[in-house]
Amino acid sequence: MNLNQVLEEARLKAKEVKTSHELAELKASYLGKKSILNELMATMKNLSIEEKKTLGQQVNACKGELEEIFLLRRQEMEALEVEKRLASEAIDVTLPGKQVARGTHHPLTLVQQEIEDIFISMGYSIEEGPEVELDLYNFEMLNLPKGHPAREMQDTFYFDEVTLLRTHTSPVQVRTLLKDKGAPVKIICPGKVYRRDDDDATHSHQFMQIEGLVVDENITMADLKGTLLEISKKMFGEDRKIRLRPSFFPFVEPGLEVDVSCFACGGAGCPMCKHTGWIEILGAGMVHPNVLEMAGYDHHKFKGFAFGMGIERIALLRYGIDDIRHFYTNDIRFLKQF
Ligand code: DAH
Repeated sequence: MNLNQVLEEARLKAKEVKTSHELAELKASYLGKKSILNELMATMKNLSIEEKKTLGQQVNACKGELEEIFLLRRQEMEALEVEKRLASEAIDVTLPGKQVARGTHHPLTLVQQEIEDIFISMGYSIEEGPEVELDLYNFEMLNLPKGHPAREMQDTFYFDEVTLLRTHTSPVQVRTLLKDKGAPVKIICPGKVYRRDDDDATHSHQFMQIEGLVVDENITMADLKGTLLEISKKMFGEDRKIRLRPSFFPFVEPGLEVDVSCFACGGAGCPMCKHTGWIEILGAGMVHPNVLEMAGYDHHKFKGFAFGMGIERIALLRYGIDDIRHFYTNDIRFLKQF
């Protein structure tokens, strides 16, 4: 085999090599100790000096070319490697992204926000109070002294003699009056309340209320009635009428229960309003002089009205939901509808 054939063969073999290990083996077979070229060199000892010189030069040139062949092949393989890696790492930035599941507002939050917006547009500000409350604010300063029979209307979770889970948002009335010390007040207070009730379709041991309180000079029951009519229309539709029925709450005098004309049948009578044409939506009244006085307001100078409504009740009516427990069991199929 002459040297040109050796080179030709090496070129072909180098092209077929797949891995760097195979390439190294191939290179060793041509340039290593037992290579064809070295065998050729071994035959040189019988040659003349001249012949040795020419053959030596040719073999060296051939070795140089072989080095070159293997180097080029190695570079070629490395470039292919890089290309392959880049291809595997490539991302298509034009592909649509993965859908992220988005949550929705809880129906109670929706109703709360809607009612807040209505009152804010009427100039009310929003107050908050603690859920762990003093008996003093939850009962006593609302004209419900210890032993008052009306305390039994609200079964209470007590921590000790003086601390309890608030049974209504009305204690925020007291807190606001104490804080504002004789200045006019116009607030609503949304929040959670707790009662020792057994849970069923219409009762929950924990639910939400929105309390309202307006105190100023010259506030009359006409202001209360106008306010209630206005919010009933905004919440349940422009055609709504309201009806005030006498009722009793110790912190107001007179006390009222407020009905709105049924928004399902317009007042004609249907299952929604139990065929009465009216739906009860809240309790209200004129702030009791005792409440004003205990909080440091002169009840001859100041008058006020207050109201309290259950957010669940409004939401049940609004969305036609039949069981209050749906609000708290967090079934995603229920919550997704809002
Ligand atoms: N706090 C009462 C309750 O939970 C509701 C209520 C009635 C609030 C009359 C008031 C009111 O502010 O004037 O049953």
